[in-house]
Parts: sequence; structure tokens; C-alpha cells
Amino acid sequence: MSRIAYVNGQYLPHRSANVHVEDRGYQFADGVYEVVTVIGGRLIDEEGHLDRLWRSLGELQIDAPMKRGPLKAVMREVIRRNGIKDGIIYLQVTRGVAPRDHPFPKNIPPSLVMTAKRLSPEKLEKKAEEGVVVITVPDIRWTRRDIKSVSLLPNVLAKQAAKDSGAYEAFQVDEEGMITEGSSTNAWIIDSDGKIITRPTGNSILAGITRAALIRELEKHGIELELRSFSVEELHSAREVFLTSSTSYVLPVVKVDDHVIGNGHPGIISQKLRGIYQDFMIAGK
Ligand code: PDD
Repeated sequence: MSRIAYVNGQYLPHRSANVHVEDRGYQFADGVYEVVTVIGGRLIDEEGHLDRLWRSLGELQIDAPMKRGPLKAVMREVIRRNGIKDGIIYLQVTRGVAPRDHPFPKNIPPSLVMTAKRLSPEKLEKKAEEGVVVITVPDIRWTRRDIKSVSLLPNVLAKQAAKDSGAYEAFQVDEEGMITEGSSTNAWIIDSDGKIITRPTGNSILAGITRAALIRELEKHGIELELRSFSVEELHSAREVFLTSSTSYVLPVVKVDDHVIGNGHPGIISQKLRGIYQDFMIAGK
């Protein structure tokens, strides 16, 4: 089955799916995006992702490209036309096309692009069984990280640094020496008392949809959580470390920089939380 992209009202073969050279997304990174997990052909946490998309658009004064109902219909059609059972759908909304000028014109129609791709649950499962390696890098991003902007250059550099050193992810460190989040994931630790810790939302991190779902599940299961920032030292000496995202779910971390976490294998609590999150995805609520 050949891949199909949705571009401003048309379903097109990937190779001929284009946007205009003066799309402001292309020239100014003037746009936002979402990545939504698909499991068994079902969108996970669709409402949470759409709430966040609308919030990101609002913060940047970009008009919604269409109402929520029709947008959901297009998402389903993209999944159907690409025959996706397990994978992701990518949505991108940019301010639209206009002659290049920094201030933005009012009343131009936003551009909407969607693509979808398969992901192998088996490959991810293997990663989860082994655990992944993380490095730390300085957080060089702007201060509105709550907006899911397509302006991802610092994240790209952080992920490349991870890749170059054979790691899966880079956790970013703010000027106070505290972890903000991964280049495309949220960061969590479990301290020596078994307490689960993750940074509170605000402008300094993206309010991850997986993070929010896991927090709801922790509450349901009566598992204690501490919402606070944690330092690089706490990360290095944590009993367990894991990360969350729509493409990684809950993924145990076994090494950070030169520090082996626990016994170098995925921790018991992280594995349990991965199971809890997967049950949530399968149950669909
Ligand atoms: N990234 N933090 C950042 C900086 C992210 O880019 C992401 C998501 C997350 C996790 O958010 P969520 O649980 O809603 O996926 C945290 C997506 C997957 C990406 O850019 O591909």
C-alpha cells in the first residue's frame, strides 16, 4: 500500500505531496504539530491531543484549519488510506502562505498537512525489555516550550547528539542544573524511597499527553507521585529512570551519561508502569 498524505484538502501520494515555497512553516517555523499514537487502528488520547493542538494554535494566534469534527474525520481517513493498524499520525498546522515578512498577515488560511506511518510494536517492546541509554545536554530552547511548535532545531541537535553517542534520547538541562525534558519525551525518575518524580507543567516543558495519561493512571492505582524538578545529580543516582511519549509509551532507561541506573536492567516499577500504560491504551479509556 503506497503512502498517502493529506495536504490542504487533498489526499495525495507522498511523492507528489507538496506545500508552497512561501508557506510560513517552511520559512519561519511558524506552525504547530501533534503526533498521535494509533493502536489497533484506534487513536490514543485523541481529545487530549486536539485540546493541546487548539491551545498551541491559540497561543500563536493561528486560526484552526477546520472544526474539530471534520479534523477527526480527516485523521480517520488518513489512517484508513494508509492502512495503519499500529503506528502514528502526524498533524501539522502552519500559519499559511504569504510573501516573506516577519509580522504575520491576518486572514490567510492556515495550511494543514497530515501523514501517517506504521511503527512496529515488536521493535519497541524489544527496546523496553533491554532499556535505553540517555545523555544530558544543555537546554538551549526558547522559554515557551509548552507550545508544540515545529521550531525544533534545539531538539534536533539534542537528539542528534544522543544518536552520535549511541544513546536513544537526550535529557535537557536548564540553567539551574535541573532536567527539563527529553528532546521529544518527558523525563521521570524514581528515587531511593521508590517515589516517582516528574517536573510540573508550565512554560518550561511540553505538557505530554502520555505524561498526563500516566499521571491519571497513577492516581487510579493509588501510586504516589511528586511533581517537582529534579537535578542531574538526582538523575544520575536515581533508583530508576524512564521516559514517556506518544512514540515510546513508557520506556525504561538503564544508563544516563556514564551512570548505570540500578543494576543496568529496566527497573521493576518502570516495567510495571509500562504495563499499566499499555493496559490503558488497549482499554481505550
Ligand atoms: N514528541 N516533550 C517534547 C519536547 C516532545 O516533543 C514530546 C512529544 C513530548 C511527549 O509528549 P506526548 O506524550 O504528548 O507525545 C515531550 C513527539 C512524539 C515528536 O515530536 O515526535
